[in-house]
Amino acid sequence: MTTPRHPSIQDIDFGQLYREHMAAVGRAKPPSVWDARADGIKPPSANDPYTQAFVQRMDLSGCEALLDVGCGAGNIALAAAPLLRTVVGLDYSPRMLALFQQNAQAQGVPDARAILRSWTDDWADVPECDVVVASRSTAVMDMEQALGKLHDKARKRVYLSSLVGGRFSDVTLQAAVGRPVPPALPDYIYIVNILHAQGIQARVDFIAAGAPRAVYRRFEDLLAQVQAREGEITEAEQARLRDWFSAQALAKPAPPASWAMVSWET
Ligand SMILES: C[S@@+](CC[C@H](N)C(=O)[O-])C[C@H]1O[C@@H](n2cnc3c(N)ncnc32)[C@H](O)[C@@H]1O
Repeated sequence: MTTPRHPSIQDIDFGQLYREHMAAVGRAKPPSVWDARADGIKPPSANDPYTQAFVQRMDLSGCEALLDVGCGAGNIALAAAPLLRTVVGLDYSPRMLALFQQNAQAQGVPDARAILRSWTDDWADVPECDVVVASRSTAVMDMEQALGKLHDKARKRVYLSSLVGGRFSDVTLQAAVGRPVPPALPDYIYIVNILHAQGIQARVDFIAAGAPRAVYRRFEDLLAQVQAREGEITEAEQARLRDWFSAQALAKPAPPASWAMVSWET
């Protein structure tokens, strides 16, 4: 007699679920999008609260080399560089990579290497490093494949961050006036589950991604905020917002967005 089957989390293919979710709501951006953003980027500062929080949570004991995937201007690699012998920045945006090199030179990092490469390219010649990092750079179409690449290149540990809830902005007010809310991208929980299915026990920690959200005690202040963000508000939208505000009198503001920092030993 066969034992009756019961539903199990093991029946869910989280790698496939991620691919389907991302295919439905996201798209692969070309490097030109990030090239265009490079000009506005401030030089990395080890005192930036996010960078500090990320680097403090990394265990660099016994590590000499770090690979930073989607390194951008080098925030994480260059903050960790004083504790290491070699840092390797990988990015598909030539302008971001140029910033990384420029910042490494300005900081006097003796061995900083840059690799122009995408998540989806061949990584055969990307060097293995003790630690591999992907900070705020994991909006890939195939997470299972990307995690495999990080894992394969890490001799000791992997650290990545992924936005909790899959979106930056608080869409509560957009929804309150009745405007369409863009769908959220898949978030960190897919990553934890993909790794779990591979027998990897990942750690999860959280880093605040912005200032705490405001509390509006007067409707006029709330309306001004919504107008500043959404532009002109119609009468019907105002009426919806007023109803929402009345119902929220005792509600607390939503917590600020946060990054999930996922890490594991290889
Ligand atoms: C939000 S920035 C993060 C930069 C840095 N890691 C940090 O935390 O400050 C995202 C970076 O990922 C890079 N990136 C995005 N898609 C990529 C891809 N498919 N392959 C390689 N790099 C990519 C971008 O060029 C950009 O530099």
